[in-house]
Amino acid sequence: MFSKIRPFIFKLDPEFAHSLAIKALKLNYYSSKKIKKDKSIETKIFGKSISNPIGIAAGFDKDAEVYNSLFKLGFSCVEVGTITPKKQYGNTKPRIFRLEEDEALINRLGFNNSGADTTRARITSNLPTGLFGINIGPNQDTKNKIEDYLICFRKFHNICDYITINISSPNTENLRNFHNQEELEDLLNSLQQEKKNLNTKVPIAIKISPDIEDSFIDKISNLLIKYNISAAIISNTTDKNRENLRNINKLEKGGLSGKPLNEKSNLLINKFFKILKNEIKIIGVGGVDSGESAYEKIINGASIVQLYTGMIYNGPNIANKISGELIDILKNKGIKNISEIIGIKK
Ligand SMILES: Cc1cc2nc3c(=O)[nH]c(=O)nc-3n(C[C@H](O)[C@H](O)[C@H](O)COP(=O)(O)O)c2cc1C
Repeated sequence: MFSKIRPFIFKLDPEFAHSLAIKALKLNYYSSKKIKKDKSIETKIFGKSISNPIGIAAGFDKDAEVYNSLFKLGFSCVEVGTITPKKQYGNTKPRIFRLEEDEALINRLGFNNSGADTTRARITSNLPTGLFGINIGPNQDTKNKIEDYLICFRKFHNICDYITINISSPNTENLRNFHNQEELEDLLNSLQQEKKNLNTKVPIAIKISPDIEDSFIDKISNLLIKYNISAAIISNTTDKNRENLRNINKLEKGGLSGKPLNEKSNLLINKFFKILKNEIKIIGVGGVDSGESAYEKIINGASIVQLYTGMIYNGPNIANKISGELIDILKNKGIKNISEIIGIKK
């Protein structure tokens, strides 16, 4: 069904098409198929049991408008945001580009969102029905990025299952400097203090850039362990990897997502897993669009996966499709549960 309407959707501007998708989800317009379930794909993360390891990545439901519809489509977890303290427009349009031949997107949205207060009110008036994460970041014009994270942390810590600290968007100036040891330590230390002040146990995830040098992996891992971080989300979009792309939009500035990111994020997951083992969970993101690609992320070290671009190319039934394919792969290989295969790839 989706393959028939996709050519029409792809004639529309990508950001406009996205706003239509959000409207359709608000109206629950998508026919929800029977959700595929099986013991082999049930798992646990952030202390909660979930029926499959497939989540929707941050950026799709930036303003927390349709998370409950996404659960109905078969995503076991939804991460909303990135949300900043104040509402902001983001960069000038156009700012999302399809690279059809490459099954990829480039975006330079720049954290367009309606701000923490509006989003908080929306969430508290429509409680999430599944595992729910809130991804936070600083405003573009802020004088103090750490303070912005803390403002959002205070607003959201008690209305979600985990909070993601986004330090990896390529579209906010200098944000990725938080991958440097000193800056990251400052940030994690401030968050730890804030957690104490608020007396909260909400798990924290850190979302990492795929563009870091290998020498950063050790240092970042050590800090994640030192500050008791619950998960590393690997990865955000890349501002590199343009060489082998075919579509003319490859020259657009911004973060690249989808198929061309898959291998790069798998390699990084594998490297982090070797240090973090299962002490700190890894959420694998980048180019997931099938049972096979989800399986690859898991054997490289991901406990669960998230996706965004795969839904643009494969349609709203993608979580359910991946669940079905993953169940078949595990059955064929005689694996009882995905927990047995996390990080088995050498
Ligand atoms: C249009 C678009 C907007 C995004 N916005 C955000 C965001 O606000 N915060 C964030 O942490 N990641 C954001 N991402 C990155 C995704 O969460 C994900 O890490 C990345 O797209 C790789 O996954 P994919 O290949 O499945 O799309 C965005 C991605 C896209 C395509």
